[in-house]
Amino acid sequence: MTSRTFVMAKPDAVERGLVGEIVSRLERKGLTLVAAELRSVSQELAQEHYAEHADKPFYDELVAFLTRSPVFAMVVEGPGDDTWELCRILIGKTKVTDAQPGSIRGDFATTTNENLVHGSDGTESAAREIKLWFGDRA
Ligand code: PPS
Repeated sequence: MTSRTFVMAKPDAVERGLVGEIVSRLERKGLTLVAAELRSVSQELAQEHYAEHADKPFYDELVAFLTRSPVFAMVVEGPGDDTWELCRILIGKTKVTDAQPGSIRGDFATTTNENLVHGSDGTESAAREIKLWFGDRA
C-alpha cells in the first residue's frame, strides 16, 4: 500500500542551494517524487498553509518567511502507509537544538524559524496540503 505526503524546501533552502541535497536524501531513502515545482508563494497561500498556527505568536513571521522567495514544493510517495512519518524523520525535529545530526535540519539548520523543510505531520494534513498546493495536478 503506497502513500503520499507533502514536503517543501522552504525559501532558506532554495536560497542556500540545498534543494538537490534535500531531494537526494528523500530519493536515497527509497521515496519517489510524483510532483514537484519551484514556485512563488502568495500571502493567501502561505496563510492557508499555516492556518492551524494562526493564533501562534510567530504566525506573521512564518507567513512573511514563506513568501520571501520561491519554495520547492513536492509530493513524495513511499511504498508503505507511513510516508509522511518517514519524511518527518529525514527532516528532523522542528526545534533546531533538538534536530539530530543525520537529519536535514540537524545537518544544515542553525535556527528554528529558518529550518529549511516542511513535511506534513499526518495522513490528513498530507491530503489537505497536497490538495492545497497541487490541486488535481498530483
Ligand atoms: S507548535 O507550536 O508545536 O504547534 O508548532 P510546530 O508544529 O512545532 O511548528 C509549526 C510551524 O511553525 C514553525 N515554528 C516557528 N517559526 C518561527 N519561530 C518559531 N519560534 C517557531 N516554532 C515553530 C515550525 O517550523 C513549523 O513550520 P513547518 O513549516 O511546518 O516546519
